[in-house]
Amino acid sequence: MGRLISVASGKGGVGKTTVSANLATAIAKLGEKVAVVDADVTMANLALLFGLQSAPITLQDVLMGDAEIFDAMYEGPYGLTVIPSGLGMGGYRKIDPERMKDAMEKLAQNFDYVFVDIPAGIGDNAMAAMAATKEYIIVLTPDKAAIADALKAKLTAEKIGLKAVGAIVNMSQGLKEEPTNEEIKNILEMAVLGRVPLDREVRRSFLLKKPAPVVVRAPDCEAAKEFMRIAYRITGIAPKAPEKKGFLTIIKSIFGGKKKR
Ligand SMILES: Nc1ncnc2c1ncn2[C@@H]1O[C@H](COP(=O)(O)OP(=O)(O)OP(=O)(O)O)[C@@H](O)[C@H]1O
Ligand SMILES: [Mg+2]
Repeated sequence: MGRLISVASGKGGVGKTTVSANLATAIAKLGEKVAVVDADVTMANLALLFGLQSAPITLQDVLMGDAEIFDAMYEGPYGLTVIPSGLGMGGYRKIDPERMKDAMEKLAQNFDYVFVDIPAGIGDNAMAAMAATKEYIIVLTPDKAAIADALKAKLTAEKIGLKAVGAIVNMSQGLKEEPTNEEIKNILEMAVLGRVPLDREVRRSFLLKKPAPVVVRAPDCEAAKEFMRIAYRITGIAPKAPEKKGFLTIIKSIFGGKKKR
């Protein structure tokens, strides 16, 4: 059975969709079988990050009982599976808890990791989506309002019986007034998995004609590097040591010796 992980926040606009997309892609890049699900059925925008806005079958169809979860799967980068929600105004706007649970269990049987992008707040849809998972990640920005709302989301997740994976601090600007990871860890009483900087490359991901998460599009930007570090932390996979190029390897590569893999 794979891990079913909610990506929740409490406060809106702190980066749940960005974190869900990048973390899922980063872990797929490490070779794991990963799915990412947009459970934000009213304000769906995960699809936009993968250029899937015209997906004909979405999670809404599954929640209406008109399609199977496997019909709503689309291919993302590195073999990632993306399950979008419909962007239109019509369709199902309330998550049916039983259908959601059933769909997520089917995913858990087929994937190593399933990340679920949870709607902001602690309303019915957020609760129904979280209840279909087993673990949760809290995304927050380093400010008081986001920390307060993160605490509410944490208490909600715990009431449902989910296990904390940890918190991800997003859009850090490195200001000395920002709460530190240590302070956030103490307030939320959970591990801080990483601190993703405010990075213009992340913002561009949403704006480009051919959108893609930064871990694919701009892997060398600071935000992408932090997403990769978080991916290693969550999976427990050891980061690859940078390849040391000895004198002999360099000579061989110049004179067409043994091909590098
Ligand atoms: N690390 C970052 N650096 C720069 N911009 C970011 C970063 N993370 C997120 N953003 C931008 O902030 C905006 C909000 O991000 P996102 O949509 O991921 O938040 P959200 O929590 O899913 O919002 P909502 O609550 O509306 O679902 C987007 O325009 C996104 O590109
Ligand atoms: Mg979102």
